[in-house]
Amino acid sequence: MSSQEKLSILSQAARAEIDHWLTKYPPEQKRSALLPALHIVQDENGGWLSPELIEGVAHYLGIPPVAAYEVATFYSMYDLQPVGRNKVKVCTSISCMLRGADELLAYMESHLGIKAGETTPDGRITLKKAECLAACGGAPAVMINRNYHENITPEKANELLDDLE
Ligand code: FES
Repeated sequence: MSSQEKLSILSQAARAEIDHWLTKYPPEQKRSALLPALHIVQDENGGWLSPELIEGVAHYLGIPPVAAYEVATFYSMYDLQPVGRNKVKVCTSISCMLRGADELLAYMESHLGIKAGETTPDGRITLKKAECLAACGGAPAVMINRNYHENITPEKANELLDDLE
């Protein structure tokens, strides 16, 4: 892919938003904008990052593509495959596990008819296991798109899942 092609894969709007983040860091620290830049591009792309988009972000920030790949593949908040319209992440780390997260996840899997890591056939929900969501005080915790939900019971999970379009 040529330099121009790598750049043009990012929309004008995404580049403007990334530029806004870049103003927060010294010019030689463009790498600091990598996490928000990947979020911006992922959101614009229906919730997932293709290899071309990851490389486009790296190119735009002037960093090696491998640095962007490392971040995109390390954090579970980035998806590298197409996802459903809503992402539901169930924390299964220790505090949530002790408060029934495994049972909650099993319940959600059976309610939706999919396993963690899968998307419902209608494209409505992608269900994922997550590492600690930093909401341990409200275990078990679930993140739906960008929103946190705490002390989730199967009944609450039903309501939350059924509300998603
Ligand atoms: S262990 Fe679940 S939010 Fe921290």
